[in-house]
Amino acid sequence: MRKIALAVFAMLAFCSVAVAQNFPSRPITIVVPFSAGGPSDAMCRILAERMKVALGEAILVENVTGAGGSIGVGRAVRSPPDGYTVSFGHLGTHVANGAIYKLGYDLLADLDPVVLLPSNTMVIVSKNAVPAKTLKEFLDWLKAKATPASAGTAGAGSGSHIAGLYFENLTGIKLQYVPYRGTGPAMNDLVAGQIDLILDQMSNSIQQVRAGNIRAYAVTDTKRVESASDIPTTDEAGLPGFHMTLWSGMWVPKGTPNDVIAKLNAAAVDALNDPAVRKQLENLGLQMPPNDKLTPQALGDWQKAEIAKWWPVIKAANVKVE
Ligand code: MLT
Repeated sequence: MRKIALAVFAMLAFCSVAVAQNFPSRPITIVVPFSAGGPSDAMCRILAERMKVALGEAILVENVTGAGGSIGVGRAVRSPPDGYTVSFGHLGTHVANGAIYKLGYDLLADLDPVVLLPSNTMVIVSKNAVPAKTLKEFLDWLKAKATPASAGTAGAGSGSHIAGLYFENLTGIKLQYVPYRGTGPAMNDLVAGQIDLILDQMSNSIQQVRAGNIRAYAVTDTKRVESASDIPTTDEAGLPGFHMTLWSGMWVPKGTPNDVIAKLNAAAVDALNDPAVRKQLENLGLQMPPNDKLTPQALGDWQKAEIAKWWPVIKAANVKVE
């Protein structure tokens, strides 16, 4: 009996090594929990285009949206731990949502970190019809409004929502949140003047700002964004201390073999260090993570630290979700 058990165990170990060695042997799916055309989707597609070269297999980007990105992450969590389904997400989906939704999965226990990805500075943008040219004038306009201004978000817990909560907390100005399945569709309505503002990711707003279709007031970082250096920082523009960057990352279902995670990580690091890819991402205003923070372990440690930092803040905001 002991001999049979040992034989089965050896066979299983051999199989998982064989599986890892042959990984990937079919297309990989990256689940983006927000709409196509938005900031998460755009970054993921740029990276996937380069990662498929290193992995030698096609990479499909699947947009599974809803509930601040928690539905798409759940889809990845419930997938086989074999490396063929990757969860793309950020501070909202892999930190904030754990303090807002009854997820049905655990962000730390049910997922393995793969790689930390570039981060987005947030930018305060409004429709062009707003009679304000500076952040001060914009804040005065918001304060003078009889009803709360409409702020587009990608749902409760999304980056644009967390930034909104932080903005309300700092300014005392109430916002009326208008949830979309991503800030891609929210941006269409902002350009059309259907909503008043978005606390948006720079990479989603930058082209519309450059085209003059929306107005930008300030970026939520201590330094200006190189590819949009005409936009002042919140410190410069009169909202000191409003600092927030939205970092992104990739995860796989818990139990995915380490060798497989290492291959996915190596392909992502390869892409992040590709000069053409970096240029594309930096042109969108994205900031590269330091190379020593690109290990799976580094993402795991960072996610834990961010959960410790943000959950008390978010729980205190008492966010209601249907
Ligand atoms: C998106 O891609 O739509 C965003 O990441 C949404 C958000 O978190 O604001």
